[in-house]
Amino acid sequence: MTSLTSIWPLFSLRLSTPRLELRPLRDEDIPRYVDAALSGIHPPETMPFTFPWTDVPADELGRGTAEHVWRTRLLSRPGDWAIALGIWFEGELVGCQDMSAKNFAVRRTVSTGSWLKQAVQGRGLGNEMRTAVALYAFDHLHAVAAESDAAAWNAASLGVSASVGYVPNGVYCGEARRGEAVDMQRLRLTPGTFRRPYWALGVEGHDAVASFLELPSTPADVTPTPSPALSAEVTP
Ligand SMILES: CC(C)(COP(=O)(O)OP(=O)(O)OC[C@H]1O[C@@H](n2cnc3c(N)ncnc32)[C@H](O)[C@@H]1OP(=O)(O)O)[C@@H](O)C(=O)NCCC(=O)NCCS
Repeated sequence: MTSLTSIWPLFSLRLSTPRLELRPLRDEDIPRYVDAALSGIHPPETMPFTFPWTDVPADELGRGTAEHVWRTRLLSRPGDWAIALGIWFEGELVGCQDMSAKNFAVRRTVSTGSWLKQAVQGRGLGNEMRTAVALYAFDHLHAVAAESDAAAWNAASLGVSASVGYVPNGVYCGEARRGEAVDMQRLRLTPGTFRRPYWALGVEGHDAVASFLELPSTPADVTPTPSPALSAEVTP
C-alpha cells in the first residue's frame, strides 16, 4: 500500500538530541499540541508571538492551530517551505520548533520560531531544540545563516539565542497585539558564531526531505566578494 511518507516525505524527518525528539506534526499530534498550548505558554499579560495566536478563547485555539499546521504544509514546496516540528520530551508533546525558508537555493537562510509549555521551560530544552535545528540547517541543508527575532523584553528567547551563538542584527518596530507596538530584536546565527554542542544530532529521513524540497546537495560558496567601492579604495 502507498505510505503517507511517500506522499508527504517531510513526515519522514526525525531529529534527536540527548533529551528531545523533533518531528513534523501529523494530524493525530494536533490535539496534543493544542493541549500543550492550553496548559500555558506565557503569562496572559505578555505576548511573545508576532501573531498573537494564544489570545483567542480556549475553545477556538484548536481550530486556529490546526489551520496553521495545515497552512505550513500547503506552503511547502521546493524553495519556499515551512516545517512545524513537534517537540517530544519524556514521551510527551511539549512544544514546537518551526523552521522555514524563502528561495532557499539562493538565500541559504532559514528562519525559526519556537515555544514550550511553561511546565518545562527553564531546563535548557529551548537551547537544545534550537541547537538541533541549527545543526540540521548547517550540516544537512547547507544553510549559511539562521535568523530569528524576539520582542526586546523577551529575556528567555533572547537567552536561548545568545546561548546558541546568535548575534543581534538590528531592531524593528513590530506589533504584538492590535494597537500595541513593540521593539523587535533581529538575530542571526552563522557557522562562525554557532556554539556547537558536545552531543551529535540524530537525523532520520533527510534524503526524502532533500529530494522533496530539491535542496542543494553541496555547501554554498560563501567566499566574500570585495565590493567595487572597497576594491577601488585599495587599488593604488
Ligand atoms: C523561549 C523559550 C522557548 C526558551 O526555552 P527555555 O527552555 O525556557 O530556555 P532554556 O532553559 O533553554 O534557556 C536557554 C538560555 O536562556 C537563558 N534564559 C532562559 N530563560 C531566561 C529568562 N527568563 N531570563 C534570562 N535568561 C533566560 C538561560 O539561562 C539559558 O542561558 P545559558 O545557556 O547561558 O544558561 C521558552 O521560554 C518559551 O517557550 N517561552 C514562551 C514563548 C516564547 O517566548 N517563544 C519565543 C517567541 S520569539
